[in-house]
Formats: sequence, structure tokens, C-alpha cells
Amino acid sequence: MMNSVKLSVIYYSATGTIHAMAERLTLAGEKAGAEVRLRQVSELAPPEAIGSNAAWSQHVERTRDEPRAGADDVVWADAVLFGTPTRYGNVASQLKQFLDTLGPQWAQGLLADKVYAGFTASMTAHGGQETTLLALYNSIYHFGGIVAAPGYTDPLKFADGNPYGVSHVTGGNNSNPLTDVEDAALDHLAQRVVHLAGKLRSA
Ligand SMILES: Cc1cc2nc3c(=O)[nH]c(=O)nc-3n(C[C@H](O)[C@H](O)[C@H](O)COP(=O)(O)O)c2cc1C
Repeated sequence: MMNSVKLSVIYYSATGTIHAMAERLTLAGEKAGAEVRLRQVSELAPPEAIGSNAAWSQHVERTRDEPRAGADDVVWADAVLFGTPTRYGNVASQLKQFLDTLGPQWAQGLLADKVYAGFTASMTAHGGQETTLLALYNSIYHFGGIVAAPGYTDPLKFADGNPYGVSHVTGGNNSNPLTDVEDAALDHLAQRVVHLAGKLRSA
């Protein structure tokens, strides 16, 4: 394990979609030989907002004891995959708040020279997935990070169709589960960042 690539999968999920994508990335990262930390960022929404949505309340309950992300999970990693549902075409404030706590590490250059990529979900097709990933990457550029967008680097990317990262359309009531198409794209993303981070380490 000592020489393996270190991958952190850091995400926010209200109703479980991004959580499921993060778990798939974790397995794929481990299969690619990485040591992986799976971390959720803290929930910030008020209890009345969470309580107004049964799926949200259930997810909060289900993941209550899962490890929370800290700055060290980024500093430690060679590669970081950030996941967020779209919020009006933008990064969820919970993940943004986590990024906004990284000022001290940013000031010391501890966020630079790592491989980063993102994953997201929206309820509708064209609902803001690409803008969410591009908004996320604005922060990565400021870190001095290396955005390892998947592009169309494998034929399978022509099936999921998102060169900026990986994304899923949840449909009404968030009822569409992940399909083989998204699973394949998630596996490819994890393999790619682990491979690139390994190359960077040995360069
Ligand atoms: C405040 C808010 C804003 C949202 N904005 C959009 C949007 O602009 N486009 C869209 O398709 N879905 C939008 N959604 C739906 C979420 O993106 C969707 O429920 C989420 O991707 C599911 O991920 P999760 O299960 O991990 O929370 C929004 C949801 C909320 C609560």
C-alpha cells in the first residue's frame, strides 16, 4: 500500500445519487490499485428543509456515521474526485463550503499539482450538469490543480456523453438508478485519475 496512489472521493449528496456514484468510484479506484478515502462533506441545510423531503431525511439518517471530509483528505491525496448534485446549474453550497474552508492549505500550496476531476447529477437532461462541473473546476484552477477531464478518451464516453466528468440524470423523484453506462463511465474516470496521478508521482 505504501507506494500506491492515494485517491480521495469527496462528495455531497442529499438524496443518495451522488453517494452511489462515489461508492462506485471508490471500488473502481481500489481495483485500479489506489488507496481510497471516501468522505462526505457536512450537511449545512436547516432541519426544516431536510425534513420537508423524505428521501433527503432518510439519506441523512443512513449516512449519519460515515466519515466526514477534512482538509487533510485533500492534502493527503494524489488525486481527488469531487461530487456534487447540480443546484441551479451550480455546485451545491455544502461542497462549496468545504472548498471554502481550504484557504490555509491553498495558501501553503498544498492543493496544487494533484489530479482532480468531478462528477454530478441533475433531475433533467441539460439541467446544468456541464455548468456544474465547469463551476467546480474554477476552484481547481485556483488550487493549481490538474483537471483530468475524461474527454472522449475511451469509446464508452460516447455512451454517457459527458467529456467534462461523469453525470447522471436522475429523472422525476430522482427515480432513475445508475445504469451500466454511468457505471462504466465512473470506472473509467477512477482508472484514469489513478493512472495519471501514478504517472505524475513517478515523473
Ligand atoms: C435547490 C435545488 C436545485 C436544483 N437545481 C437543479 C437544476 O438546475 N437542474 C436539474 O436538472 N436538477 C436540479 N435539482 C435536482 C438535483 O440536482 C437532483 O435531485 C440531484 O442531482 C440528486 O442528487 P442526490 O441524490 O445525490 O442529492 C435541484 C435540486 C435542488 C434541491
